Amino acid sequence: MTNYKLKKDHRHFIDISSLSKKAAREIIETAKALKKIAKEQNHSNGFVHPDAPLKNQALAMIFEKPSTRTRVSFEIAMHQLGGKAVVLQNHDMQLGRGESVSDTAKVLSGFVDAIMLRADSHETLLEMAEKSSVPIINALTDFSHPCQIMADILTFEEHSGLITGKKIAWSGDGNNVAVSWIHAAVQFDCELVLACPKGYAPLEQVIGWAKNNGGNITLTESPAEAVKDADCVITDTFISMGDENADQRLKDLSPYQVNSELMSGAKSSALFMHCLPAHRGEEVSAKVIDGPQSVIWDEAENRLHIQKAILMWCFGK
Ligand code: CP
Ligand code: NVA
Repeated sequence: MTNYKLKKDHRHFIDISSLSKKAAREIIETAKALKKIAKEQNHSNGFVHPDAPLKNQALAMIFEKPSTRTRVSFEIAMHQLGGKAVVLQNHDMQLGRGESVSDTAKVLSGFVDAIMLRADSHETLLEMAEKSSVPIINALTDFSHPCQIMADILTFEEHSGLITGKKIAWSGDGNNVAVSWIHAAVQFDCELVLACPKGYAPLEQVIGWAKNNGGNITLTESPAEAVKDADCVITDTFISMGDENADQRLKDLSPYQVNSELMSGAKSSALFMHCLPAHRGEEVSAKVIDGPQSVIWDEAENRLHIQKAILMWCFGK
């Protein structure tokens, strides 16, 4: 990957690995506090935080890939914090017909106070961060999905208490969501065991980073080993946006489905999480995702509360 020079004085939200442990924890605690305020005020889409902390701030949201949760939660988060969001689909922008990332970053920096980007390639995100003069937020790339995993940490802690020292199990593809879980496991000091078949393990550079930073990360090919006594079991789609060879992927990954039998190896109090969208009968059985251990709806709602905290952090509030 190209070595981009990011301005040190900018609060870019690129990856959980690029935050300090202190900042990562601060964002979770801010989200808890903001959620409490919203709930106390009968939180609805029309709700605006009484102090409107992001009044006069604007966010551009660029999408190179589809989105439901990320798009709506960021737009509503800006509204609820008293700011303004502009949603830009790549194909409606000059960026979509060849205007450079660099020129786009410089132009947008003159209009808005932060840019959220869902990009096909992580390189695009890093280039945008290098060239923009406002904070950049990673709203998913082929490499990682940090906003999602911050919402997952919030969800875990609401249901099961502090995540520090807990065992988290991943079964399935070692994809962008798995990478952000590895980053989070290091920053929040929990144990993470990932079960992935041969050829689907997370990138070696990410495992190396985790090991160098004292992470308690184990890779296995056995889902049963991964979930043993786990406090939380997680999976994600077997076919991410942009993936090819769907039939082969489904064949290779099907033994990694999270179903009732696999869940029975985890603690009886274990949570089931999935970032959504889900494919019942592929990476997870309907019985598990729609069952009593599943916290997917809280996890989805928490995208809103965590986006607010991420925005507050980026804006230095
Ligand atoms: N989980 C998630 O990022 O969902 P969207 O693709 O709908 O934004
Ligand atoms: N791994 C999935 C996550 C979707 C939110 C993808 O990249 O498509």
